[in-house]
Amino acid sequence: MPFKDLRDYLNYMSSKGKLIEVNKEVDTNLEIAELGRMATYSNLPPLLFTNVRGFPGWKVITNVYYSMEGMKELFGTDKLEGIAENFLSNLGELPISILDKIRSLPSLLKMGKYMPKEKKPAFSEDKDLNLQRIPATKTWPKDAGRYMTFSIVITRDPEREVNNLSVYRIQILNEREALIHWQAFKRGSLSAAKYRDQGITRVPVAIVNGVDPIIAFTAASPVPPGLDKYLFAGILRNEGVDVVQLGNGILVPAHAESVFEGYVDLSDLRLEGPFGDHLGYYTPQDYYPVFKLEKAYVRENPVYHVTSVGKPPLEDAWIGKAVERIFLPFLKMIIPDLVDMNLPEYGLFTGIGIFSIKKRYPGQARRAMMSVWGTGQLSFLKTIIIVDSDVNIHDINQVIYALASTVDPQRDVMIVTNALNDSLDHTVPSPPLGSKMGIDATRKFKEELGRDWPEEVRSDPETVKRISEVWNEIKSRWIGPPSK
Ligand SMILES: Cc1cc2nc3c(=O)[nH]c(=O)nc-3n(C[C@H](O)[C@H](O)[C@H](O)COP(=O)(O)O)c2cc1C
Repeated sequence: MPFKDLRDYLNYMSSKGKLIEVNKEVDTNLEIAELGRMATYSNLPPLLFTNVRGFPGWKVITNVYYSMEGMKELFGTDKLEGIAENFLSNLGELPISILDKIRSLPSLLKMGKYMPKEKKPAFSEDKDLNLQRIPATKTWPKDAGRYMTFSIVITRDPEREVNNLSVYRIQILNEREALIHWQAFKRGSLSAAKYRDQGITRVPVAIVNGVDPIIAFTAASPVPPGLDKYLFAGILRNEGVDVVQLGNGILVPAHAESVFEGYVDLSDLRLEGPFGDHLGYYTPQDYYPVFKLEKAYVRENPVYHVTSVGKPPLEDAWIGKAVERIFLPFLKMIIPDLVDMNLPEYGLFTGIGIFSIKKRYPGQARRAMMSVWGTGQLSFLKTIIIVDSDVNIHDINQVIYALASTVDPQRDVMIVTNALNDSLDHTVPSPPLGSKMGIDATRKFKEELGRDWPEEVRSDPETVKRISEVWNEIKSRWIGPPSK
């Protein structure tokens, strides 16, 4: 059974002894974020602050995505890849090709249990509530102010009628205005551009906080833009999301803790930031559009969800690793060459990606690189390393061995210039444009090396068998170094 809402999840975690209630008074100014980061770095479970200075009646939850174990617990499985594999194998009974399957996902899903369902809202309108009355946090000393760090921005694509739920940071300006930091390539700004094409500058938006953590995870996930995020959340929860339609037409989760209805004014851009971001640096200021609040809704005794990004591994790292596992089966359908992928948490998810392929022909590694760069948000990757399928890409030493034993830099490193990178990347000359590097760390075919690839050393199996007794004796006699 999926969690109905955030409270359901918190009750579950509490029943497992995995919720740390903090009753001492804490401040939204730096303190909650600092404690949250300390908890994540220490692999502690979620923290629930019940006494937040200046915000009586509100509780604040952080560190929901606290480790890979936490992610597995949330999804109720030890094998996150299994979620997509099960889903795809169910589709497998339908007589359609793989590509058709992907193309027809939206229409297939409409038939199923994954569709959102209209329900009565658990929240009600509060005329006194505004953006200054929520316990939004300041996460780093030089941040421009208080931010909504784990709220979900919901828009509706005006052409395809697809619902977009996305986690973007939101800088609170005053009671009724906030800046939405949606990057150019993301759903929110893509949909906004379509409204602008139609001459509309008031984009209907809802900002929602405090939902089933799987819905919030979906909002932070790189679901292909044509696919409805409610449908995808339904797949991950194995049950459609309960929703309510607001007056501005936006569907919001019916059990959300707080909801802010309004619009983004595309004619009103203001400087956003600085903000300490997921690269571990402050993002410089840039122009983003203003959200204007019209109505606010809240549940009784609301819980407010926050996080803090910074040097890895923080919560976004464990979200990224879970995305890597859950999306791998889908990615393998789009790029059949791929065997496995590792987006190491210290590689910042847009910095370094390692992929293995079953190599069958010359030039295949470069082809795989270009396919990866052509796929959704993987296009942001600055460095791609391709290795052979016998390399365990989750063991960085094996990847280093592959790099050292297969790469001739001049031949095997491909540099792409002036390509789209993460707009937060401070290393590139003019963000979001920067260069990319692909490294082919696969064994080379004759066409690639100019001669046969040398034979690798391998033990003689007969000898290994023959000496096994001696070896076992050697091992049994070694009792380790003397203790001091
Ligand atoms: C804590 C957190 C903060 C994020 N902040 C931003 C942000 O400010 N701007 C942005 O474009 N993406 C941000 N992201 C990444 C998006 O949530 C992610 O790219 C997601 O896939 C959104 O995709 P969509 O626009 O296709 O829905 C953040 C992710 C997390 C987990």
